[in-house]
Amino acid sequence: MASLRTTSRLFAASRPFFRPAIFARSYATAESAISVDPIASENPSLKTFKIYRWNPDTPSEKPTMQSYQLDLKKTGPMMLDALIRIKNEMDPTLTFRRSCREGICGSCAMNIDGVNTLACLCRIPTDTASESRIYPLPHTYVVKDLVPDLTLFYKQYKSIKPYLQNDTPTADGLENRQSPEERKKLDGLYECILCACCSTSCPSYWWNSEEYLGPAILLQSYRWLADSRDQKTAERKAALDNNMSVYRCHTILNCTRTCPKGLNPGLAVAEVKKMLAV
Ligand code: SF4
Ligand code: SF4
Ligand code: FES
Repeated sequence: MASLRTTSRLFAASRPFFRPAIFARSYATAESAISVDPIASENPSLKTFKIYRWNPDTPSEKPTMQSYQLDLKKTGPMMLDALIRIKNEMDPTLTFRRSCREGICGSCAMNIDGVNTLACLCRIPTDTASESRIYPLPHTYVVKDLVPDLTLFYKQYKSIKPYLQNDTPTADGLENRQSPEERKKLDGLYECILCACCSTSCPSYWWNSEEYLGPAILLQSYRWLADSRDQKTAERKAALDNNMSVYRCHTILNCTRTCPKGLNPGLAVAEVKKMLAV
């Protein structure tokens, strides 16, 4: 079970489910008591973190915002450091994904102070007068607390056949080589870590995620369309050439603004559109 974190109750009420078992979703309206850093220093620099909490074991209970105060003098510089301290030293029930802690795995994607980003690459603002608010990625079903359900996202990724399709052996039996110019076309594409920050910031994806592929998956599509070694360009284009898969992009560019890896998924979507036009 999961709850949908949405910015629109109307939308939440009308949106079709892609997993019938999912039924609970709503804003976090209630706020719970504050927990204070157990090892704060004598002259602490206390900052408040308000974190979205929702437990699938009690699905009828609404999500809450739970507050934790950490001494920044005892905490590493990144948001993920704060979350790990809270989990390890204050509240082991807090649930979030993380693995590499260096912006490579994409698993710590969440919405921090209004921006979709990676917790491990996001510095804690040192201004202790203002609190930080941490939510799961917007418009996603929530598995628990800060963990979004990315089932549909990965299903869409699988649908674009994200691998090299080339059945012709090379003349010398060695690997498929590219010229430096051909290889250069993949720069800005291969670095995508599939964190879903861009897709979950895209209004078009919020409203049409069942059919529109969204910027992350379209950037990945373009990564294979642009690959000189791939032989299925025509088939890849045919699979995208319909009203919904690509053309729901209205060039709002939230995707490019939010990408924590500095990529340009909006441009990749535009390149896909250009390829479809010829
Ligand atoms: S394009 Fe950027 S934001 Fe989008 S999935 Fe890839 S790394 Fe994440
Ligand atoms: S440019 Fe396209 S993909 Fe990016 S946020 Fe806007 S509508 Fe979404
Ligand atoms: S923990 Fe891997 S990207 Fe943040």
